[in-house]
Amino acid sequence: MEKRILIIGASGQIGNELTMYLRNMYSNQNVIASDIREASSIVMESGPFEILDAMNAKAIEEIVTNYKITDVYLMAAMLSATAEKYPIKGWDLNMTSLFNVLNLAKDKKIEKVFWPSSIAVFGPTTPKINTPQHTIMEPATVYGISKQTGERWCEYYHKRYGVDVRSIRYPGLISYKTPPGGGTTDYAIEIFHKAIENKKYTCFLNAQTALPMMFMDDAINATVNIMLAPPQKIKIRNAYNLAALSFNPQELAASIQKHIPDFTINYKPDFRQAIADSWPASIDDAVARKDWGWQHTIDLDKMTKIMIDNLK
Ligand code: SER
Repeated sequence: MEKRILIIGASGQIGNELTMYLRNMYSNQNVIASDIREASSIVMESGPFEILDAMNAKAIEEIVTNYKITDVYLMAAMLSATAEKYPIKGWDLNMTSLFNVLNLAKDKKIEKVFWPSSIAVFGPTTPKINTPQHTIMEPATVYGISKQTGERWCEYYHKRYGVDVRSIRYPGLISYKTPPGGGTTDYAIEIFHKAIENKKYTCFLNAQTALPMMFMDDAINATVNIMLAPPQKIKIRNAYNLAALSFNPQELAASIQKHIPDFTINYKPDFRQAIADSWPASIDDAVARKDWGWQHTIDLDKMTKIMIDNLK
């Protein structure tokens, strides 16, 4: 059967690039972009777009029926830093949108669901280095609590109702096409814009805060590949650890200085430092590599070069 895809959250950092990638793969008409606000002109002009509130179950169902949607990618969420400011709103959005989509799959109105989890599911009691797939998970942020809870519900819907839901724990994602919104890892994008604009950056995390990160192209590949894998290969139905890079602000600054030698960085940690401190520094993703063949392709210096070349 032909794939008809709905992306919820197509105006966001991941949604924008994912929409264009999937339109290339499945043709423009078969990939319906949606968001609560208009998307980039490239998304708006290349195929169908619908204004959609991910909290509105009925509105999602209408689009699913009208377009005969088979697969939903639910990319709408409130990220870590914003959700600390609006805890209940963050929880409501992140959970309600997930239930709205899982219930459509449970009722057999769609065939397959992609829902992203995050490194934020881990907390201060989790082993920080090479965090394993199965480990202590006591998230300390609203965003992390919503993602961990979401993982439990995904697995539950799979086991209890046979829902084909697939998920990965994204690290911080770095891209130049669409700005990120409200995450703790956003410094790793801001730094490039500031380095190019005025050769200096004040970082909201301290120099030594290492976090798991990934360039967007690798994240899109992971997303598409986990969805293409035969169902029996997806043995984990909560969410897979996924890794590519691990660096701290000082190391990223050094990589940038290879291209912009007079770039300087200083540090003024704010409330996001506590969020970052509760997260792993690096992730063990051996299970994803074994189960469905995940591999990354872009290392730190390659990413730095791509970012600078494209933002200039
Ligand atoms: N990049 C996200 C954040 O900082 C983590 O999933 O919130």
